[in-house]
Amino acid sequence: MPEPSVLFLRACLAVLAMPIYLLSFLGIWEPFCRKIFFPYFLEKLSTIHEKKVEKKKQELFRNLPDFTSSSGELRLLEIGTGCGTNFKYYPPGCKVTCTDVNPHFQEALSRSMSKNQHIHYERFLVAAGEDLHQVSSGSVDAVICTLVLCSVHDVNGTLKEVLRVLRPGGAFYFLEHVAADRSSWKYFWQQVCYPTWKLVFAGCCLTRELWKNLEEAKFSDLKVQHISIPLPGTPIKPHIIGFAVK
Ligand SMILES: C[S@@+](CC[C@H](N)C(=O)[O-])C[C@H]1O[C@@H](n2cnc3c(N)ncnc32)[C@H](O)[C@@H]1O
Repeated sequence: MPEPSVLFLRACLAVLAMPIYLLSFLGIWEPFCRKIFFPYFLEKLSTIHEKKVEKKKQELFRNLPDFTSSSGELRLLEIGTGCGTNFKYYPPGCKVTCTDVNPHFQEALSRSMSKNQHIHYERFLVAAGEDLHQVSSGSVDAVICTLVLCSVHDVNGTLKEVLRVLRPGGAFYFLEHVAADRSSWKYFWQQVCYPTWKLVFAGCCLTRELWKNLEEAKFSDLKVQHISIPLPGTPIKPHIIGFAVK
Protein backbone atom coordinates (compact mmCIF):
# COMPACT_ATOMS: atom_id res chain seq x y z
CA MET A 1 0.00 0.00 0.00
CA PRO A 2 1.54 3.38 -1.02
CA GLU A 3 2.27 6.01 1.64
CA PRO A 4 -0.54 8.49 2.56
CA SER A 5 1.37 11.35 0.85
CA VAL A 6 1.45 9.35 -2.41
CA LEU A 7 -2.27 8.61 -2.12
CA PHE A 8 -3.04 12.27 -1.44
CA LEU A 9 -1.05 13.51 -4.45
CA ARG A 10 -2.55 10.77 -6.64
CA ALA A 11 -6.00 12.07 -5.71
CA CYS A 12 -4.93 15.66 -6.58
CA LEU A 13 -3.69 14.50 -9.98
CA ALA A 14 -6.89 12.55 -10.56
CA VAL A 15 -8.89 15.73 -9.88
CA LEU A 16 -6.82 17.59 -12.50
CA ALA A 17 -7.36 14.74 -14.96
CA MET A 18 -11.06 14.40 -14.05
CA PRO A 19 -12.34 14.91 -17.63
CA ILE A 20 -10.28 11.91 -18.79
CA TYR A 21 -11.47 9.77 -15.87
CA LEU A 22 -15.02 10.78 -16.78
CA LEU A 23 -14.54 9.89 -20.46
CA SER A 24 -13.05 6.58 -19.35
CA PHE A 25 -16.03 5.92 -17.08
CA LEU A 26 -18.31 6.57 -20.09
CA GLY A 27 -16.27 4.14 -22.23
CA ILE A 28 -15.13 6.92 -24.57
CA TRP A 29 -11.48 7.49 -23.59
CA GLU A 30 -9.95 4.06 -24.37
CA PRO A 31 -11.17 3.83 -28.02
CA PHE A 32 -10.30 7.53 -28.60
CA CYS A 33 -6.86 6.97 -27.07
CA ARG A 34 -6.14 3.86 -29.21
CA LYS A 35 -7.36 5.34 -32.49
CA ILE A 36 -6.47 9.01 -32.33
CA PHE A 37 -4.63 10.32 -29.27
CA PHE A 38 -1.97 7.64 -28.80
CA PRO A 39 -0.87 7.30 -32.48
CA TYR A 40 -0.60 11.13 -32.68
CA PHE A 41 1.16 11.43 -29.33
CA LEU A 42 3.55 8.52 -30.01
CA GLU A 43 4.80 10.02 -33.26
CA LYS A 44 5.56 13.32 -31.47
CA LEU A 45 7.14 11.58 -28.45
CA SER A 46 9.24 9.32 -30.69
CA THR A 47 10.84 12.33 -32.37
CA ILE A 48 11.95 13.71 -28.97
CA HIS A 49 12.92 10.32 -27.51
CA GLU A 50 14.83 9.28 -30.65
CA LYS A 51 17.11 12.33 -30.45
CA LYS A 52 18.13 11.25 -26.95
CA VAL A 53 18.56 7.54 -27.67
CA GLU A 54 19.88 7.50 -31.22
CA LYS A 55 23.52 6.84 -30.26
CA LYS A 56 22.52 4.23 -27.68
CA LYS A 57 20.33 2.43 -30.20
CA GLN A 58 23.07 2.53 -32.86
CA GLU A 59 25.41 0.85 -30.34
CA LEU A 60 22.73 -1.62 -29.27
CA PHE A 61 21.82 -2.80 -32.75
CA ARG A 62 25.39 -2.83 -34.08
CA ASN A 63 25.79 -6.58 -33.49
CA LEU A 64 22.41 -7.55 -34.99
CA PRO A 65 24.12 -9.04 -38.11
CA ASP A 66 25.97 -11.48 -35.79
CA PHE A 67 22.64 -13.28 -35.35
CA THR A 68 22.19 -13.98 -39.06
CA SER A 69 21.05 -17.60 -39.45
CA SER A 70 23.10 -20.33 -41.12
CA SER A 71 20.96 -19.85 -44.26
CA GLY A 72 22.33 -16.29 -44.54
CA GLU A 73 19.02 -14.64 -43.62
CA LEU A 74 18.41 -12.30 -40.70
CA ARG A 75 14.77 -12.66 -39.62
CA LEU A 76 13.60 -10.03 -37.14
CA LEU A 77 10.38 -9.83 -35.21
CA GLU A 78 9.42 -6.54 -33.58
CA ILE A 79 6.92 -6.49 -30.71
CA GLY A 80 4.94 -3.25 -30.38
CA THR A 81 6.29 -1.70 -33.58
CA GLY A 82 4.19 1.45 -33.13
CA CYS A 83 5.31 4.07 -35.69
CA GLY A 84 8.36 2.05 -36.80
CA THR A 85 11.04 4.17 -35.13
CA ASN A 86 13.49 1.25 -35.05
CA PHE A 87 13.46 0.46 -38.78
CA LYS A 88 16.39 2.75 -39.53
CA TYR A 89 18.67 0.73 -37.22
CA TYR A 90 18.06 -2.63 -38.93
CA PRO A 91 20.73 -4.01 -41.27
CA PRO A 92 20.06 -3.85 -45.03
CA GLY A 93 18.31 -6.90 -46.44
CA CYS A 94 16.95 -8.24 -43.15
CA LYS A 95 13.38 -9.58 -43.09
CA VAL A 96 11.10 -7.91 -40.58
CA THR A 97 7.81 -9.07 -39.11
CA CYS A 98 6.04 -6.24 -37.29
CA THR A 99 3.49 -6.83 -34.54
CA ASP A 100 1.38 -4.53 -32.42
CA VAL A 101 -1.87 -4.81 -30.45
CA ASN A 102 -2.94 -1.46 -31.82
CA PRO A 103 -3.61 -1.42 -35.59
CA HIS A 104 -4.01 2.37 -35.78
CA PHE A 105 -0.44 3.39 -36.63
CA GLN A 106 -0.75 2.90 -40.41
CA GLU A 107 -0.02 6.50 -41.43
CA ALA A 108 3.14 6.90 -39.36
CA LEU A 109 4.21 3.36 -40.22
CA SER A 110 3.88 4.02 -43.95
CA ARG A 111 6.01 7.16 -43.58
CA SER A 112 8.68 5.21 -41.73
CA MET A 113 8.60 2.35 -44.26
CA SER A 114 9.03 4.67 -47.22
CA LYS A 115 12.04 6.26 -45.50
CA ASN A 116 13.54 2.83 -44.75
CA GLN A 117 13.49 0.80 -47.92
CA HIS A 118 16.71 -1.02 -47.07
CA ILE A 119 14.78 -3.74 -45.22
CA HIS A 120 12.14 -6.28 -46.33
CA TYR A 121 8.78 -5.93 -44.59
CA GLU A 122 7.46 -9.47 -44.45
CA ARG A 123 4.30 -9.34 -42.32
CA PHE A 124 2.30 -6.97 -40.15
CA LEU A 125 0.41 -8.82 -37.44
CA VAL A 126 -2.09 -7.41 -35.01
CA ALA A 127 -0.92 -9.41 -32.02
CA ALA A 128 -0.11 -9.00 -28.36
CA GLY A 129 3.38 -9.85 -27.18
CA GLU A 130 1.80 -12.34 -24.78
CA ASP A 131 0.27 -14.31 -27.67
CA LEU A 132 2.38 -14.60 -30.81
CA HIS A 133 0.74 -17.84 -31.97
CA GLN A 134 0.84 -16.58 -35.59
CA VAL A 135 4.64 -16.89 -35.43
CA SER A 136 6.15 -20.39 -35.48
CA SER A 137 8.40 -21.58 -32.69
CA GLY A 138 12.14 -21.12 -33.31
CA SER A 139 11.49 -19.16 -36.52
CA VAL A 140 13.22 -15.83 -35.85
CA ASP A 141 16.84 -14.79 -35.31
CA ALA A 142 16.14 -11.71 -33.19
CA VAL A 143 13.19 -10.13 -31.40
CA ILE A 144 13.14 -6.37 -30.80
CA CYS A 145 11.08 -4.64 -28.15
CA THR A 146 11.50 -0.96 -27.26
CA LEU A 147 9.25 0.92 -24.82
CA VAL A 148 6.69 -1.89 -24.88
CA LEU A 149 7.18 -4.03 -21.75
CA CYS A 150 5.87 -1.12 -19.67
CA SER A 151 2.47 -1.63 -21.34
CA VAL A 152 2.02 -5.37 -21.84
CA HIS A 153 -0.45 -7.05 -19.49
CA ASP A 154 1.92 -9.90 -18.69
CA VAL A 155 5.68 -9.26 -18.85
CA ASN A 156 6.70 -12.85 -18.02
CA GLY A 157 4.18 -14.24 -20.53
CA THR A 158 5.65 -11.95 -23.21
CA LEU A 159 9.21 -13.05 -22.43
CA LYS A 160 8.04 -16.67 -22.62
CA GLU A 161 6.68 -16.00 -26.12
CA VAL A 162 9.95 -14.26 -27.07
CA LEU A 163 11.87 -17.38 -26.04
CA ARG A 164 9.46 -19.61 -27.96
CA VAL A 165 9.70 -17.76 -31.30
CA LEU A 166 13.50 -17.30 -31.13
CA ARG A 167 15.71 -20.00 -32.62
CA PRO A 168 18.35 -21.40 -30.25
CA GLY A 169 21.15 -18.83 -30.12
CA GLY A 170 18.80 -16.03 -31.26
CA ALA A 171 18.71 -12.68 -29.43
CA PHE A 172 16.19 -10.45 -27.70
CA TYR A 173 16.97 -6.71 -27.91
CA PHE A 174 15.33 -4.29 -25.51
CA LEU A 175 15.25 -0.65 -24.45
CA GLU A 176 12.66 0.04 -21.76
CA HIS A 177 11.91 2.69 -19.18
CA VAL A 178 11.79 1.27 -15.68
CA ALA A 179 11.17 2.05 -12.02
CA ALA A 180 13.58 4.45 -10.36
CA ASP A 181 15.51 3.53 -7.22
CA ARG A 182 12.91 2.88 -4.51
CA SER A 183 14.57 5.29 -2.09
CA SER A 184 14.59 8.18 -4.59
CA TRP A 185 12.26 11.13 -5.16
CA LYS A 186 11.93 9.96 -8.75
CA TYR A 187 10.32 6.75 -7.51
CA PHE A 188 8.05 8.77 -5.24
CA TRP A 189 6.80 10.80 -8.26
CA GLN A 190 6.51 7.69 -10.39
CA GLN A 191 4.19 6.26 -7.73
CA VAL A 192 2.18 9.50 -7.61
CA CYS A 193 1.74 9.65 -11.39
CA TYR A 194 1.21 5.88 -11.84
CA PRO A 195 -2.62 5.55 -12.12
CA THR A 196 -3.27 8.73 -14.11
CA TRP A 197 -0.27 8.11 -16.38
CA LYS A 198 -1.48 4.56 -17.03
CA LEU A 199 -4.93 5.79 -17.98
CA VAL A 200 -3.74 8.65 -20.20
CA PHE A 201 -0.92 6.76 -21.93
CA ALA A 202 -2.59 3.53 -23.01
CA GLY A 203 -1.66 1.32 -20.07
CA CYS A 204 1.96 2.47 -19.60
CA CYS A 205 3.17 1.42 -16.11
CA LEU A 206 5.88 3.59 -14.58
CA THR A 207 7.16 1.41 -11.77
CA ARG A 208 8.06 -1.91 -13.39
CA GLU A 209 11.42 -3.37 -12.37
CA LEU A 210 11.79 -5.07 -15.72
CA TRP A 211 15.42 -6.11 -15.25
CA LYS A 212 14.14 -8.58 -12.63
CA ASN A 213 11.79 -10.23 -15.16
CA LEU A 214 14.67 -10.47 -17.64
CA GLU A 215 16.97 -11.99 -15.02
CA GLU A 216 14.32 -14.57 -14.14
CA ALA A 217 13.50 -15.48 -17.76
CA LYS A 218 15.36 -18.48 -19.13
CA PHE A 219 17.88 -16.75 -21.40
CA SER A 220 21.35 -18.30 -21.55
CA ASP A 221 23.07 -14.89 -21.48
CA LEU A 222 21.86 -11.41 -20.52
CA LYS A 223 23.57 -8.07 -21.07
CA VAL A 224 21.68 -5.28 -19.35
CA GLN A 225 22.77 -1.72 -18.70
CA HIS A 226 20.93 0.84 -16.56
CA ILE A 227 20.95 4.25 -18.22
CA SER A 228 19.36 7.63 -17.69
CA ILE A 229 17.40 9.29 -20.48
CA PRO A 230 15.98 12.58 -19.25
CA LEU A 231 12.64 13.47 -20.79
CA PRO A 232 11.90 16.83 -19.15
CA GLY A 233 8.55 17.06 -17.42
CA THR A 234 8.06 13.29 -17.33
CA PRO A 235 8.78 10.66 -14.66
CA ILE A 236 10.41 8.24 -17.13
CA LYS A 237 14.13 8.95 -16.80
CA PRO A 238 15.58 5.53 -15.78
CA HIS A 239 15.86 3.00 -18.62
CA ILE A 240 17.41 -0.40 -19.24
CA ILE A 241 19.05 -1.31 -22.53
CA GLY A 242 20.65 -4.52 -23.73
CA PHE A 243 20.17 -7.91 -25.27
CA ALA A 244 19.65 -11.47 -24.14
CA VAL A 245 20.55 -14.67 -25.96
CA LYS A 246 18.29 -17.74 -25.99
C1 LIG B 1 5.47 3.58 -26.35
S1 LIG B 1 5.01 2.68 -27.75
C2 LIG B 1 6.59 2.21 -28.42
C3 LIG B 1 6.57 1.98 -29.90
C4 LIG B 1 7.92 1.59 -30.52
N1 LIG B 1 8.33 0.28 -30.08
C5 LIG B 1 8.96 2.64 -30.23
O1 LIG B 1 9.95 2.34 -29.56
O2 LIG B 1 8.79 3.77 -30.68
C6 LIG B 1 4.36 1.18 -27.12
C7 LIG B 1 3.85 0.26 -28.21
O3 LIG B 1 3.55 -1.01 -27.65
C8 LIG B 1 2.30 -1.44 -28.14
N2 LIG B 1 1.76 -2.41 -27.18
C9 LIG B 1 1.15 -2.17 -26.01
N3 LIG B 1 0.78 -3.31 -25.41
C10 LIG B 1 1.22 -4.31 -26.21
C11 LIG B 1 1.15 -5.73 -26.15
N4 LIG B 1 0.59 -6.36 -25.12
N5 LIG B 1 1.69 -6.42 -27.16
C12 LIG B 1 2.28 -5.80 -28.21
N6 LIG B 1 2.36 -4.48 -28.33
C13 LIG B 1 1.84 -3.73 -27.34
C14 LIG B 1 1.50 -0.17 -28.29
O4 LIG B 1 0.39 -0.32 -29.14
C15 LIG B 1 2.56 0.76 -28.85
O5 LIG B 1 2.68 0.66 -30.23
